[in-house]
Amino acid sequence: MVCIDLGQERVYYTPLFGFDKSKIKRDHPIISLLKGFIKTIKKKKTSPKNKLAPLIIPRAEHTISRSAIHRNALKVLYRLNEAGFDAYLVGGCVRDLLLGYTPKDFDIATNARPEEIRRLFKNCRLIGKRFRLAHILFGQDVIEVATFRTHHENAQEAQGKSRHGMIVRDNVYGTIEDDVIRRDFRINALYYNIADYSIVDFVGGMQDIKEKMLHLIGDPAKRFHEDPVRLLRAVRFLAKLNINITKETEEPLMTLSHLLNNVSAARLFQEVLKIFQSGATLATIHLLQKYQLMSKLFIYSTASKTLLDVALSNTDKRIHEGKTASPAFLFTVILWHSVLEQVTQIEQSGMPTYLAIEKALQTILKQQTERLTIPRLMQLSIREICLLQHRLTYRRGKHPYRLLEHPRFRAGYDLLLLRAQTGEPVQELATWWQQFYSSTPEQREKMLHEIQRAAQPKKRKNRSKKSNVAYTQ
Ligand code: CTP
Repeated sequence: MVCIDLGQERVYYTPLFGFDKSKIKRDHPIISLLKGFIKTIKKKKTSPKNKLAPLIIPRAEHTISRSAIHRNALKVLYRLNEAGFDAYLVGGCVRDLLLGYTPKDFDIATNARPEEIRRLFKNCRLIGKRFRLAHILFGQDVIEVATFRTHHENAQEAQGKSRHGMIVRDNVYGTIEDDVIRRDFRINALYYNIADYSIVDFVGGMQDIKEKMLHLIGDPAKRFHEDPVRLLRAVRFLAKLNINITKETEEPLMTLSHLLNNVSAARLFQEVLKIFQSGATLATIHLLQKYQLMSKLFIYSTASKTLLDVALSNTDKRIHEGKTASPAFLFTVILWHSVLEQVTQIEQSGMPTYLAIEKALQTILKQQTERLTIPRLMQLSIREICLLQHRLTYRRGKHPYRLLEHPRFRAGYDLLLLRAQTGEPVQELATWWQQFYSSTPEQREKMLHEIQRAAQPKKRKNRSKKSNVAYTQ
């Protein structure tokens, strides 16, 4: 009799000779233990860790100059290196620099543990429960330093997967070889080594950069299952970096949209914000449509297409000019025709337009927030921008002055102009507001006087099937 201590329980078994196989239970702990042992040995033989031999691209053979790296990131890299640790720039910043874009942040990967990083930097704050990260603070600027993490298969005990195969825990330190294979795309897995200014490429990322290709590391279908947000990241990178996708990465992308049903609405909301800030929102939305991902994120009516195209190309232009884009405005544009369709239906029951918009918004926002966790304040803004479409039709007395003071006036006004531009019958109203907005006080008084004079006792016309939002005066 042999006794094995499994921590929680002890298992006693008789060695195999003279063993009655029929009595072995398949789920017996010792069977799982042996299976695990065999798997580990097999894995060791084929482990990517043993296979990975990086390509080192010396400084003379790549285009990343230190002058393009943020000085705070350089300070952190040098300090880690001087203290004897490995220190690399990694991820989006290396990719962007190689492709000629300006990185939005500089992330660092190191073999130093969070506590060791904290000891090196007075301005360091450790964050995160799932995985501890070090934030090195330079005033408003934050440089994120992450200790190399291991791939989940190399850390069974710490790995957490949901029943859909998604990774839900990810909290074990590893080596650079481990760190590289848990990254998503090959172009996101290049390491710039501060020790000799070379680029370390374990997975062929440099070739993809040259060929402008997006390629998932490992088996694409498996990697999309592990983290379905990669579907959205793929689409965002394709649009933002204006690159192509390899056939084997694209094929599962075409068919796996349903996986997004398993991702939390909070995480999807964060991804949508990234899309809105990417400067390539229009191209991303077109790809979301192509890969049938749009309906996983938005309540969207195809009637919104033209409105969305015009609004999003304006937004991208603003981002490229260094301005910001209001997510509330973009959500309103996306939702607008769905709201309008509901309003048309509700109005048929005789409900006044303003109340019909309120009611339609309740339904649409409820459906939308089941997909994305839109914060309350943002929902309030969406509601106000929609309601303004009706309020902007009130042009008598002091109304227009009050509307000019409304905190959401500019967004409501912009939407009105876009609606006119994209064929809704609100051209006269939009032109009036454009004029009123840019007029002197005297001209405004004159305009209001004319409106007053033109106002006839209201005759109710037959309602057309379309909603009368903003079509009345
Ligand atoms: N990463 C990953 N899988 C994710 C998120 C991030 O592999 N789901 C890795 C990639 O190596 C990525 C890096 O972490 O490059 C940084 O991630 P993030 O800042 O989210 O994206 P970037 O690639 O930097 O791209 P962008 O700056 O355009 O968001």
